[in-house]
Amino acid sequence: MIQDELQKLKERALKSIGGISNLEQLRNVEIQYLGRKGDLTQILKKLSELPAEERSKVGSVANQIKQELTKEFEKAERVLGKREVNKLEEEWIDVTASKPKRWLGHLNPISIIQYELEDIFTSMGFMVLDGPELESDYYNFESLNIPSWHPARESQDTFYVEGEDLVMRTQTSALQVRAMKKYGAPFRGIFPGRCFRNEATDASHEHTFYQMEGLMIDKNISIANLIAVMKALLRGVFKRDVKIRLRPGYFPFVEPGFELDINCLICGGKGCSVCKQSGWLELLPCGMVHPNVLKFGGLDPKEWSGFAFGLGLTRLAMMKYGIDDIRLFCGGDLRFLNQF
Ligand code: DAH
Repeated sequence: MIQDELQKLKERALKSIGGISNLEQLRNVEIQYLGRKGDLTQILKKLSELPAEERSKVGSVANQIKQELTKEFEKAERVLGKREVNKLEEEWIDVTASKPKRWLGHLNPISIIQYELEDIFTSMGFMVLDGPELESDYYNFESLNIPSWHPARESQDTFYVEGEDLVMRTQTSALQVRAMKKYGAPFRGIFPGRCFRNEATDASHEHTFYQMEGLMIDKNISIANLIAVMKALLRGVFKRDVKIRLRPGYFPFVEPGFELDINCLICGGKGCSVCKQSGWLELLPCGMVHPNVLKFGGLDPKEWSGFAFGLGLTRLAMMKYGIDDIRLFCGGDLRFLNQF
């Protein structure tokens, strides 16, 4: 029956229209059903075989189907057309537009000094190591010859973690024994990083500050090696030879221990308010690694010796750039940071 065929064609066509996803497909489907050689035309050709009465009836049904389908094609065309316009708009770019301005950050002065020092020390064969800021009591104190009863603990106001054997590290010296255990001897390394102490904050005290520890262990290391490396360090930072002196200083993890002073950079040693008329500035504690510390690190003190130093990076940055308030470093004020 032609009428059945027409009905089936309509259903097929509607289904095809539902699955169309772009205009080109739509054109092809339209031609397939309604084109001059399309499916509908093929069916209509058979009309002539029908008796006249039936022919007009079927003919009007065919016409109706054709109109319906035409409407459906037009509707699909509108929807797809819009979609393609939207897509064009979405993908539109203005190749002449200028880039939005990007604000480049600045290095914190502490980082500047740290990177400079890393360059100097790596050129002398030192490795740069990092370690945990939440540190065990063992590495921060015990292994540095500072047992729990030792009065030296009093000199560092420590953040202890309640109920745990952990502290916020008070000094980068905490990496000394970690490094010895991991790398053995000979060893050369620096350990820059953040330290924490429970300080009442003012212009020269801050609960968070930066140090850079150095450790060198080998056979026959002497104070002469320590002095030579410290001079290289200072030449690198201040870009000129700096006169130094060593005074005895006490730290449980070095023996002998020293305070290294530099000739005052402001007055050249004549005496001024910065050096409190002494001509010298206290800069850097250091010393020969204590035999007990070597033992904690698994090294035989009869075979190995070494030196260590603890540079206050924050203090050095204050000296080098003439910064008179320590709180500026971590304060996040761009008026300060943009100067570097
Ligand atoms: N860690 C010490 C402190 O923060 C500084 C120090 C002193 C480090 C002497 C050393 C050293 O390596 O030999 O007070």
